[in-house]
Amino acid sequence: MGPYITDARAWQESWDRQQEAYLPDREHRLAAMLDAVEAATGTAAPRILDLAGGTGTITLRALDRFPAADVTVLDLDPVLLAIAEASLHARARIVTADLRRPDWQESLPGGFDAVLTATALHWLPAERLSGLYREIHAVLRDGGIFVNADHMPDDTLPELTARLTARADRQRDARYAAGAVLSWRNWWDHVDADPALAPLVTRRRDLYPDGHTAEWLPPVSWHLEALRGAGFGEVGTIWRGGADAAVAAVR
Ligand SMILES: C[S@@+](CC[C@H](N)C(=O)[O-])C[C@H]1O[C@@H](n2cnc3c(N)ncnc32)[C@H](O)[C@@H]1O
Repeated sequence: MGPYITDARAWQESWDRQQEAYLPDREHRLAAMLDAVEAATGTAAPRILDLAGGTGTITLRALDRFPAADVTVLDLDPVLLAIAEASLHARARIVTADLRRPDWQESLPGGFDAVLTATALHWLPAERLSGLYREIHAVLRDGGIFVNADHMPDDTLPELTARLTARADRQRDARYAAGAVLSWRNWWDHVDADPALAPLVTRRRDLYPDGHTAEWLPPVSWHLEALRGAGFGEVGTIWRGGADAAVAAVR
């Protein structure tokens, strides 16, 4: 049982706004991910793992799309999982696990129809991410689908990608300066000021003592190669927006 959060919907909303400042097309990518789940699994009640799911945005969108879905949110962050728990009202399973460790899936049942993750795996180094792709393959059923949406530049457009990224950075900075939206840092300052969430921030600092590891942003071709190496059959890009993409892999 998590802490008493007065208004989980408000925290969920402010998280989503803060993330949308980085990813103005965030809802498009989430919809594309769920389209792929629907097409690949052909069931109205998929078993979905929302990997590094944070506050559970993907889970909430999945439950909107598939009300009978069986969804598990897995993350390490006690603050984000407390918000997830409060806003999901027991409509999904919450699992605390560390993706830096190969035993992250130990308490999971396996046989998932879909594993979905967004804006998260760039916090893992190359070797660990390759291993994680193999482990994700192992928790999927045959025919199950994995989708990872993240910063994945198109390696055939290096110049244009750099310009698109700089343009997006300028637009985001202007929104921060105008007070249109909270920055990542400001969002965490609000969390720190909340009596229910502040104690969890201390636990969070112990779990991520150096913040997060340096961002590693390989091009989309790296991901496709690593997914093939992990044993997936059909592998490719199902969505792109600027320097971001969603890659899908079918077991
Ligand atoms: C930018 S957030 C994205 C969260 C969610 N997928 C979304 O789109 O709203 C990145 C997430 O990755 C999680 N994460 C980072 N490193 C992790 C690790 N080693 N194990 C589990 N989760 C991790 C963070 O706690 C955070 O929830």
